Amino acid sequence: MSTDFAVFHNRRQRLLETMTAAGGGIAIVPTAREMTRNRDTHFPFRADSYFYYLTGFTEPDAVLLLIAGETPRSVLFCREKNLEREIWEGFRYGPEAACTHFGVDEAWPIDEFDGRLAPLLADQPAIFFTLGHDSAWDRRVVDALNRVREQVRTGIAAPASITDLHRLIDEMRLIKDSHEVATMRRAAAISGEAHRQAMRTARPGQHEYMVEAELLHQFRRAGAQSPAYPSIVASGANACVLHYVSNDCVMRDGDLLLIDAGCELDGYASDITRSFPVNGRFSGPQRDVYQLVLDAQSAAIAATRPGAAWNAPHDAAVAVLAQGMIDLGLLSGSLDGVLESAAYTRFYMHRTGHWLGLDVHDAGDYKLAGAWRPLREGMTLTVEPGCYIRPADDVPEALWNIGVRIEDDALVTAAGCELLSADTPKTIDDIEALMRGA
Ligand code: GLY
Ligand code: MN
Ligand code: MN
Repeated sequence: MSTDFAVFHNRRQRLLETMTAAGGGIAIVPTAREMTRNRDTHFPFRADSYFYYLTGFTEPDAVLLLIAGETPRSVLFCREKNLEREIWEGFRYGPEAACTHFGVDEAWPIDEFDGRLAPLLADQPAIFFTLGHDSAWDRRVVDALNRVREQVRTGIAAPASITDLHRLIDEMRLIKDSHEVATMRRAAAISGEAHRQAMRTARPGQHEYMVEAELLHQFRRAGAQSPAYPSIVASGANACVLHYVSNDCVMRDGDLLLIDAGCELDGYASDITRSFPVNGRFSGPQRDVYQLVLDAQSAAIAATRPGAAWNAPHDAAVAVLAQGMIDLGLLSGSLDGVLESAAYTRFYMHRTGHWLGLDVHDAGDYKLAGAWRPLREGMTLTVEPGCYIRPADDVPEALWNIGVRIEDDALVTAAGCELLSADTPKTIDDIEALMRGA
C-alpha cells in the first residue's frame, strides 16, 4: 500500500469497528456516476465524497464493500485494465494494481459486482447502505437482497435490516484528521492567493468574468482541480443576490465587489468571501457597512471554540449586526426588540456558517437530540456574516445596493479556532494598501 493511502486504510478500519459495534454486517459504498453533459460529453467526473473518504480512489465505475466480522475485510470493485479504452480515456489501475496501491484486501472487476454481491450478503446480519441517495443503486441493492431472500429455504439467512451508512461516516467526517487539515490548509492558501490576485487586478470597466478568470487561473496554476462551487463575482447591486453566478456585468467605479470563491484541492473545499471597492477606496457608507460586518465576524470567531454550541458564533454575529443596523438607521427600536422579532433577517438572511470539508457544505448534524451540538477540536466550519441592503423607501439612500459578506474557514483548536484563510486581507487598511500596490 502506498504510504499516502494508510490514512484511508485507517478510516476503513475505524468504520469496520463501528459496524461491528452496531452488530456487524456489510457496507456498500458506490462512487458517483458519470453524468452526460450533452451527447458524447460528460461533466468532469468527481468521486463520491464518502467513497473517496474511505478509498482515495478517483476512477468512476467503482464500489467499496466493507465486511465486518471475525476477519474484517475491504473489497474494491473497479474497471479492468483495457488498452483500447486507456488509449482514449487514460490510465486505469485495474483490480490487481488497485488492490496493492490502495491497500484493500481484495479487488475485482466492476462487471462482477452484481454476481458477487448476493453471495457476500448471505448470512450477514445487516446491510449498511444509504437508501434514497441514488435510485438506481437502491434498486441494485434491493435486488441483491431479494436474491438472498429467495434462498432462505436452503438455510441461508438474509440481512434483517438496512442501516444508514452515511450517518456513521458523517460522524467520522466531522472531525478532521491531520491529513485532511493539511489539505484544507493548502486549499485555503491557494484560494487566499486567488483573492489577493483579484484585489490586485480588478478595475472599473472590466466585466466580472474577468475577475472570475483570474480566480480560476490561480486555482489551476496552483494545482487545485476545480472550484469547490461556482464562483460568485458580484459587483454593485449584484452583491445583494446571494447566489449570483452569472458574473457578466461591468464593474463600475464606486461599486463594491463581493467575491465568494474557493478551490477544491484533492477533494477538499475552501470557501472564502471578500468584499472590496472596485476602485480601491471604500466610500464612507461602504466603510460603515463593511466595518460592521467585520466586527460581527470578529465576534463570531471569538465564539468559535471547543464546547461552544454550534449556534454561538451565529448568535454573536447577529447581536453585533442587529445593533449596527439600528445605528445605521436600517432598523428602529431596541436591540432586544430587533433580536426578538428577527427584523435583522431583512438585511442578514442566512446563517453564519456551515461545516466545511470534502463537501463545501460538509456532512454532519448540527443538532444532537434537539440541541445545537458543541464544537469540538478538529471540526472545520466557515464563519461568514454579511449585510445586504436593497433599495427601499425606508432605507437610507446612501446605503442602497451595498452587499458585504466576509467569510473565513476555521479549524476548531484546543484554544479556540485557527483561521485557515487568515492570509486573505480583510481589514479596510490592508485591502486598500494591497489595491494601491503598497
Ligand atoms: N459558497 C457557499 C457558501 O458560502 O456557503
Ligand atoms: Mn460558505
Ligand atoms: Mn462562500
